[in-house]
Amino acid sequence: MQKKSIVFILIFVFGLSLLPAQTTDNPALRPILHHFSTRDFAPGPLTRAELENIVLAGLRSTSAGNRQPWLFTVVQNEALLSQILPNITTGNILIVSSGVLGGANRDAVILDAGLAAQSMFLAAQAMGLGVRQYTNQALIDRANGLKAELGIPADHNAIIVTRFGRLPAGVDVIGSASPRAAPETKVVYR
Ligand SMILES: Cc1cc2nc3c(=O)[nH]c(=O)nc-3n(C[C@H](O)[C@H](O)[C@H](O)COP(=O)(O)O)c2cc1C
Repeated sequence: MQKKSIVFILIFVFGLSLLPAQTTDNPALRPILHHFSTRDFAPGPLTRAELENIVLAGLRSTSAGNRQPWLFTVVQNEALLSQILPNITTGNILIVSSGVLGGANRDAVILDAGLAAQSMFLAAQAMGLGVRQYTNQALIDRANGLKAELGIPADHNAIIVTRFGRLPAGVDVIGSASPRAAPETKVVYR
């Protein structure tokens, strides 16, 4: 009995000693703490597994009341890609997240679609891919102008477009991020 207690205490103390390492060097935290939006993509396709993980990350995202109000259009067709985003890099794909914006819960739909897009963004970065989100009106308008071709129902509107592709070799993922505001200007502790 006493021997068991000693073993238990040893395991507990060993577990505690691992905690700081997990919080500072947790692989799941890396893409969150060092994420950045890719400016320059390298040509080359995503693998099927990469694409499936990205889509799964979006589908697994949380949403208000678990309503999952999004529709993801995975655009791989080159003609459609370049109509949405001119000068797109070969092998890039776009995911157009759309939803019904005419209802009373419009804000929640937009928020949920944004959260799902961020899940896909982080999944892509965790796999070492390049990724950038777009909400600029011209691009959203171009996606909405292609609803029929993109399979977006008439009552849906594009909310955010996320671009995925390969990163050029040697990209410094930490140095590539834009500067962030000083924490004391954005965080209040009470
Ligand atoms: C909701 C959202 C919309 C964005 N829209 C655009 C866009 O339309 N065009 C663009 O070039 N970048 C866009 N970005 C990328 C941001 O400009 C970028 O994340 C920000 O400048 C921080 O830079 P970093 O991610 O490289 O650190 C968007 C990002 C988010 C989260």
